[in-house]
Amino acid sequence: MNKETYARRRAELVNQIGKNDIVIVATSPVKSRNGDVEYQFRPDSDFHYLSGFSEPEAVLVISPGRAQGEYVIFCREKDKLREMWDGRRVGLEGVIDTYGADDAFPIEDINDILPGLMEEKEKVFTTVGRYSDFDAQLLGWMNKIKQDKRLGKHAPYEFVDLNHILHEQRLIKRQDEIALMRKAGKMSAAGHARAMQVCRPGMYEYQVQAELECEFRKAGSPYNAYPSIVAGGKNACILHYTENEALLKDGDLLLIDAGAEFGCYAADISRTFPVNGKFSPEQRVLYDIVLEAQTAAFEFCSAGHGWNQPHEAAVKVISQGLLDEGLLRGSLEQVLETQSYAQFYMHRTGHWLGMDVHDVGDYQVDEVWRELEPGMVFTVEPGIYVNPADDVDERWHHIGIRIEDNILVRRDGYENLTEAAPKKPSDIEALMMSRR
Ligand code: GLY
Ligand code: MN
Ligand code: MN
Repeated sequence: MNKETYARRRAELVNQIGKNDIVIVATSPVKSRNGDVEYQFRPDSDFHYLSGFSEPEAVLVISPGRAQGEYVIFCREKDKLREMWDGRRVGLEGVIDTYGADDAFPIEDINDILPGLMEEKEKVFTTVGRYSDFDAQLLGWMNKIKQDKRLGKHAPYEFVDLNHILHEQRLIKRQDEIALMRKAGKMSAAGHARAMQVCRPGMYEYQVQAELECEFRKAGSPYNAYPSIVAGGKNACILHYTENEALLKDGDLLLIDAGAEFGCYAADISRTFPVNGKFSPEQRVLYDIVLEAQTAAFEFCSAGHGWNQPHEAAVKVISQGLLDEGLLRGSLEQVLETQSYAQFYMHRTGHWLGMDVHDVGDYQVDEVWRELEPGMVFTVEPGIYVNPADDVDERWHHIGIRIEDNILVRRDGYENLTEAAPKKPSDIEALMMSRR
């Protein structure tokens, strides 16, 4: 993305706040893992959306009408010694030249400078409640201004959650964002296909994970969008399983839920396939129901449909399928009314997708499910998970299946950003037959 993209995003945001207000957004803190080891740093999505800046220890300020320029970044200064040990820094001049800041200050000086930017302002739009240390700093700056009241200064009188306006903006993806998401989808699909090609009984889940993620990296994605779920056999019935250390057995299914991140945009794909390359009759029956549920949900993915319609369509197909196979009892109306399908399908059919895998944006407006609009991107991920129960025939036990794709709402329908990942049983079996 270029400087102009970020400038446009900031301008769009400024249009929605008052001329006496101020926006303050911090990037994510660096988290300690153990000893002198830190978790890999990932910038805060809101911060990155507005700045494109990826270094830790940074805060951005947008102060409409500020005489010396309204866009200010606090960041680390250049430092030869620290850069030799820890990596390059853009520095103060760099954020001005490369990232379009009007003004830049060392992050160490923020306590001295930021109160001055806040005084005389009315509302502070910020991501309150996200990072506790930063919240405490904000309150400290507020108090500092209040103490200076005698000098004629007045402190802002409201903190406003930035989420509401900024996240509505992030919800609708522009062409440049969609281009990144298409790439993330393609890279992720390549990883899933690779997993199918290498998987065989006797491998460990983490070994398939390594092949999958190697393909993400080879395709150009530096990080995963979230920790991969590589769940063989009964582990597939643990929705957010991430241990990934079990042996893969002949006759089991393998559920993989994994996505690459590219340019800070996520893909989120789930595929389920037989470890030995051939679905058993029971696996195939339930797989076909999930696939049919996804196809039914797709019918409601174009603009103008309600957010809940794909979910309702998927639930109906899954409920009917489970009734037909004797896993559920009663009429379809009863199953839907009592939600007895939730024994086997306990999550919703999707979520927004973007810079965050569970992306921002409201699902309801005035307590009504919102309408799908061009530029929205979301997942469609029906599943069936059979945990053992007395009223369920043993032959179904421990089967866990999820099929997940990423859908872009377009003016003329929808686009499946992840369709390159095989999911037709015949395609999966053919690909697995070709294993080397
Ligand atoms: N990967 C998490 C999810 O599918 O929502
Ligand atoms: Mn997923
Ligand atoms: Mn998902």
